[in-house]
Amino acid sequence: MVTPFQNRRIILGLTGSIAAYKSADLASKLAQAGALVDVILTGSAAQFISPLTFQSVTGRIAYTDSDLWGSEGHVQHIGLAREAQLLVIAPVTANTIAKLAHGIADNLLTITALAARCPVVIAPAMDGGMFTHPATQSNLDILQEREVTILGPAEGHLASGMTGMGRMVEPQVLLGHIRYTLSRRGPLHNKKIIVTAGGTFEPIDPVRGITNRSSGKQGYALAQAALDRGADVTLISAPTQLIAPSGVNLISIITAEEMKSAVLQSIPESSALIMAAAVADYRPESPLGKKVKKSGGIPEIPLVGTPDILTEVAGEKSKHGYPLMTVGFAAESHDLLNNARQKLEEKNLDLIVANDISAEDAGIAVDDNRVTILDAGGGQEDLPLMDKFDVAQHVLERVLGLLGVPHNE
Ligand code: CTP
Repeated sequence: MVTPFQNRRIILGLTGSIAAYKSADLASKLAQAGALVDVILTGSAAQFISPLTFQSVTGRIAYTDSDLWGSEGHVQHIGLAREAQLLVIAPVTANTIAKLAHGIADNLLTITALAARCPVVIAPAMDGGMFTHPATQSNLDILQEREVTILGPAEGHLASGMTGMGRMVEPQVLLGHIRYTLSRRGPLHNKKIIVTAGGTFEPIDPVRGITNRSSGKQGYALAQAALDRGADVTLISAPTQLIAPSGVNLISIITAEEMKSAVLQSIPESSALIMAAAVADYRPESPLGKKVKKSGGIPEIPLVGTPDILTEVAGEKSKHGYPLMTVGFAAESHDLLNNARQKLEEKNLDLIVANDISAEDAGIAVDDNRVTILDAGGGQEDLPLMDKFDVAQHVLERVLGLLGVPHNE
């Protein structure tokens, strides 16, 4: 599984905050994801956590100010800075924010920061009063103008015992932003991809509705795979339990009709629409404003059809040319390939991803999928049982191919 972390050189700088312990987890996650993580601790950071902790999780030297004065010291920071593809400083204190804003370079980390030309991400952690101080705020404004990505701080319990703005954002959130930042020069750079996900919900009354077992996992994996290749991704999602990937433009909808409007509004100038959502084919004709009472007897719920979104998209595409290509999904319990190919033709798709939902180990609401990808040229690619993220990789590689985008741009 290739992700934007693979073999990327990341400098992880730490400054003096108790949140430094969380950065050990961040360093570990980055290293596990395949990044080459060079950690630099300021003197204050090393009071909170040992360089050895970082060496243990990254398998690489963790630097401190003592490295400034070694035999290679005079070039250390230049070498690190030149090779870095991303500089992350987490946690960053008000003091180091001030130094970064004003170009002060008085320790290995701030010297390296001044020498570096790669994107910079910082995650402030400090007492609430220090964060809201006008000095810190104007320093952050300076860094923002310089296109430094500032993540957080979050609100919550602070080391002082108080509650307020000042907590470093959680490593998992940082990881998502770092992934997004590293992906921006990928092959789908500047291309707009729309992905739909989840099962729509068609209300009967304020508390009940008709929905389906789609978890949204396949759609979210596709959105992540498109983001990882540098695309600008709009994720049009029905209700799910999932967290949207960092950097995605999330449009939350509930019904098929709302999904249709969101899709039609999003398609101008788009390169691809990937319809992984399980869209309801029917909805209650007139949803009730009040909860249906049991005492009223078994209700009759007349249904009407919902619009077929892909068919409407095919009409738009023939008029305006967008999306450049369309991918559908076909969940079938019998006669998989014939049904899928019929949908491919009727909905004028470039690709259809067919999966047999009668299999217990794959398909709806589980982590794995076993799919066959059919294309408009009559081609058929049978994939073995795999994680939905791996299915997403295959689909995106096919999208790249059809868009004529080189894979290694
Ligand atoms: N789809 C759509 N609009 C709908 C229903 C489905 O755009 N109202 C899309 C789905 O997102 C999927 C593809 O059409 O990409 C096929 O969906 P599926 O539910 O398998 O097929 P249907 O066309 O609904 O036909 P059937 O339910 O009879 O199999």
